[in-house]
Amino acid sequence: MNIAVFCSGNGTNLQAIIDAQKKGFIKADIRLVVSDMAECFAMKRAEKAGIKTFLAEKKNFSSQKDLEAAILKKLKEEKIDLIVLAGYMRLLSPDFIKEYKNKILNIHPSLLPSFKGTRGIKDAFLYGVKITGPTVHFVTEDMDAGPIILQSAVAVMEDDTEETLAEAIHREEHKIYPRAIQLFVEGRLRLEGRRARII
Ligand code: GAR
Repeated sequence: MNIAVFCSGNGTNLQAIIDAQKKGFIKADIRLVVSDMAECFAMKRAEKAGIKTFLAEKKNFSSQKDLEAAILKKLKEEKIDLIVLAGYMRLLSPDFIKEYKNKILNIHPSLLPSFKGTRGIKDAFLYGVKITGPTVHFVTEDMDAGPIILQSAVAVMEDDTEETLAEAIHREEHKIYPRAIQLFVEGRLRLEGRRARII
């Protein structure tokens, strides 16, 4: 199975996925890293690991449609079976998602359906929740709303700051994302309505 990881930032989840693959925990090929940010550290991590990269910056395309068409062409060339969004901060269009129906995973840093959007950690912290944590889910047309594969609970400590909480959440992300990917690779995820059952 061939995997493409999409990133926009630091790429710590990408790194966890690369490490898990190297250790033999994820039994698939990480064939491609796609990014919308030329200078992001995720691209450097990909290059260091010897993974092909594809840069799809908004400014180089006349429309979102053209940008996605270029990405899709590359995904087909590389025979990608699974797309893993790891801190990719651009919404995919319904047409793009249809092309890879039930074959796109995302990680979000809050316990969905709470605190959707781009500020999952901050919003949960400011709201004052006592428990939060990351969610891995299938991507559907509605943002952060697809069937949930894995979640991990992180207690918010009295002396936590947004930064220390973010660190604790990232530690859990790095455990559950490789696990969820391997469940997909093994064909152990069964969709029943909006439930993703692990079989
Ligand atoms: C992760 O915390 C991920 O949950 C979040 O971006 C971060 C990327 O970190 N994604 C979202 O907020 C999506 N809405 P990384 O680049 O170090 O993997």
